[in-house]
Amino acid sequence: MESDISSVNLNEGLRTKYLGNKIIYLPITSSTMDITRDESHRGAPEGTTVLADEQTKGRGRMGRKWYTAPGQSLAVSILLRPYDLPMPQLNMLTAVAVARSIERVTGLKPSIKWPNDIILEGKKVSGILIESETVGERVTSAVVGIGINVNLNPQDFPDIAATATSLKILLQDRVSRENLLQALLRELEFLYQRLRYGDNIPRLWRSRLNTLGRNVRVLSGDTEDAGYAEGVEDDGTLLLRRPDGSLARYIAGEVTLRT
Ligand code: BTN
Repeated sequence: MESDISSVNLNEGLRTKYLGNKIIYLPITSSTMDITRDESHRGAPEGTTVLADEQTKGRGRMGRKWYTAPGQSLAVSILLRPYDLPMPQLNMLTAVAVARSIERVTGLKPSIKWPNDIILEGKKVSGILIESETVGERVTSAVVGIGINVNLNPQDFPDIAATATSLKILLQDRVSRENLLQALLRELEFLYQRLRYGDNIPRLWRSRLNTLGRNVRVLSGDTEDAGYAEGVEDDGTLLLRRPDGSLARYIAGEVTLRT
């Protein structure tokens, strides 16, 4: 099947200042995370973007596997050098950028499940993995990995069939990965600039969060907990009120929404 991405069209329609200035488009790779990290070590500029039609070792948060359907998923990693910017905000910013780009291209209105799963009609349509390197206190590089289920059929992947959806399933129509990637890089660059100018990114993130005011289960490392999602702090920490009245704080983990 002919790819819906061409490097030439991608560059021409991009209209960003530096995100995507260098795009590496691979038909198949292990994980775009590894290629981007290698690029970073070779001194690649901020904004370098690695895109793959297929990943043989796609990875997700919490050591999980990430499924990339050949030519149907958007699998992309972007190199940022955030130096003294707060890392938790980079997480929120990416989630907001993904949600906004999906909305812009499809009209669908994604929400965010804490901390950064992108949800449509109760199912996961996109996930975000950020791997950073630091020297002392300084974040020298952050590889922002984004996977979007664009045209894939979740039923082809038994592990995710019950919990995942795709844009094509929801729209009953294919979505151009090229248009979506362009929109994503634009949104990401715009919000990244706003973060540098001190804009309130947590506010934008909170406004899409579907987790607050719900009874949830939290999995964090080896810990499982349950309670009422009472709030989130500006650094993304989840405040969980347990049934015994005690308050737990989670900076990372995964949430399951309970009915
Ligand atoms: C998650 O929800 O667990 C995060 C999924 C992140 C998947 C993307 S696809 C592009 C990049 N390459 C990877 O191996 N992972 C990220």
